[in-house]
Amino acid sequence: MTSILNSAHSGLRWLVLLFLLISIVFAFLNLKKTKLEKPQKLMYLFGLIFTHTQLLIGLVLYFLSAKVVFNEETMSNASSRFYAMEHPLGMLIAIILITMGYSKGKKNQSHKTVLVFYLIGLILIIASIPWPFRTALGVVDWF
Ligand code: HEM
Repeated sequence: MTSILNSAHSGLRWLVLLFLLISIVFAFLNLKKTKLEKPQKLMYLFGLIFTHTQLLIGLVLYFLSAKVVFNEETMSNASSRFYAMEHPLGMLIAIILITMGYSKGKKNQSHKTVLVFYLIGLILIIASIPWPFRTALGVVDWF
């Protein structure tokens, strides 16, 4: 169960990154328009859905993962601090921003709102992913 969820959580990162990136490009190209049309709305929605799916899987993993440990060394160990605090917190803030960007952007029909909120969210997500080159976090794969 944990390993299936972990593989899904790991692989889904690419869909999150892809759809956030497409959304940002779409928002940028339509910056001057005063209406959200169907293709853009759909991409913004996919970006939102994939980040929310990650949130759900991440929440379950938080309680099942052996990497999330709470003891007196949690804060002094780079890996356990990352999985117990930095990763969930960074991702949570990013997902809140993306959700705000989607709903405010839709309400005001503003591509600029989507662009700003999704861009900040994407930067936070990239910074909070345990990339394989972050060797202090232990062994992590690209997929
Ligand atoms: C867009 C949001 C997120 C992305 C892109 C993301 C991405 C990732 C990636 C790439 C890994 C490494 C998987 C591997 O070992 O190969 C990971 C691990 C993990 N994530 Fe997330 N994550 C997100 C949100 C969250 C949230 C919100 C939580 C918790 C509330 C969370 C909890 C965890 C935990 C506990 C692990 C360690 C799982 C393990 O290896 O045992 N994630 N995440």
